[in-house]
Amino acid sequence: MSRSAHPAGPRHADVMTEGHYSAPAADLNVLDEKVWARTVTRDADGALTVGGIAVARLAEEFGTPAYFLDESDFRARCRAWADAFGPGADVFYAGKAFLSRAVVRWLQEEGLNLDVCSGGELTTALDAGMPAERIAFHGNNKTVAEIERAVEAGVGRIVLDSFQEIVRVAHIARSHGVRQRVQIRVTVGVEAHTHEFIATAHEDQKFGIALADGQAAEAVRRTLALDSLELIGIHSHIGSQIFDMAGFEVSARRVVQLLAEVRDEHGVELPEIDLGGGLGIAYTSEDDPREPHDIAKALSDIVTRECESAKLRTPRISVEPGRAIVGPTAFTLYEVGTIKPLEGLRTYVSVDGGMSDNIRTALYDAEYSVALVSRTSEAEPMLVRVVGKHCESGDIVVKDAFLPADLAPGDLIAVPATGAYCRSMASNYNHALRPPVVAVRDGEARVIVRRETEEDLLRLDVG
Ligand code: LLP
Repeated sequence: MSRSAHPAGPRHADVMTEGHYSAPAADLNVLDEKVWARTVTRDADGALTVGGIAVARLAEEFGTPAYFLDESDFRARCRAWADAFGPGADVFYAGKAFLSRAVVRWLQEEGLNLDVCSGGELTTALDAGMPAERIAFHGNNKTVAEIERAVEAGVGRIVLDSFQEIVRVAHIARSHGVRQRVQIRVTVGVEAHTHEFIATAHEDQKFGIALADGQAAEAVRRTLALDSLELIGIHSHIGSQIFDMAGFEVSARRVVQLLAEVRDEHGVELPEIDLGGGLGIAYTSEDDPREPHDIAKALSDIVTRECESAKLRTPRISVEPGRAIVGPTAFTLYEVGTIKPLEGLRTYVSVDGGMSDNIRTALYDAEYSVALVSRTSEAEPMLVRVVGKHCESGDIVVKDAFLPADLAPGDLIAVPATGAYCRSMASNYNHALRPPVVAVRDGEARVIVRRETEEDLLRLDVG
């Protein structure tokens, strides 16, 4: 249906000129497989199912709001990344996107490594049995206690983020009598085309050590001079939700350049480079993510080419996808509450969650899609804003979308592609209870992170 054919179209003229949305899909009942987890489909009654289970049953058993994660999709994506990069490279899943014991076990079973960036993530990884040598420890301000735990556990690598940290890690490793494997995180000076808050390779920000002005070369010099550190490579992460490979190519080129300088100055060929994570996923039908295979080929081609021209042995490549693995595998299920049509503007659809289970819309202006999932509908599309139940007008889950005009309180709607950075950034704002994560696979659903309870809230409140 075209916009002008939309019954509410003319009344929405002002909003339409400033909106970020496109025309409603021809049929709102059709699920765009780009944004939904792989086993998601509609059953004969029109209800959405995941892993063979209908959402009404899931809502009844687990309540709403809740995140439902398609375990077989998660595992398939792990395998796709591992296969794409092959045995000559390493894939580290970025745990910050979403981490739980079950996830750690899946990663092990599917042959992935894990990137952690806090003591809490490290504890979860070790507790679920991830071998320490398969863990990379990140962070721009790791505490002494965190570094000590990482060194004691024997993590495979610590990614050094500052001059002070070189000394800190060296000191702790020496006092534990170990030689710690480390990488140095550099900022390559690339402007990634993404939101400012999730771009990390330009120089004016807190991460890494700049390649510019010879800072990174100096960090290499200092690290090589310390016996308790074994410098295994250089790390670069340019940002998140990136589709354009050009930034990665510039980053790879500059990192290889540094490897060549290191070889010339020290006679040492560092064996590894890590190109970080950051690959974009489809949040709406307009996003076109790349397949792991294309990404692996593009990255390994550029590294090989640059190394050949610098006459360097090609280093082992590692990458750290978080969002690209877990993001598409989950959706958030909400129950519709109050529906408020605002004449000449749009209809506000309130759900039983909000910015406490998905802060990304408020924080990054992130775009999401949404669908009516408890049934199909032949009603006309209506322009909606899906909002939460928090005391804040910025509490928006989906800024602009279309839902059927017969939407009613009690309907279930779902927001796809919420597997990454939604549960992991969830809050207790307004004393909201953080929703559970339920893994669904082959007709079975099980809670992997349970819903918070009011007792949990009161237990922390010890005043
Ligand atoms: N490696 C490093 C060193 C990172 O800092 C990150 C993300 C990743 C890998 C994984 O990036 P991914 O493949 O998931 O894009 N909260 C923001 C994203 C912040 C990402 C921080 N670092 C969001 O919701 O978009």
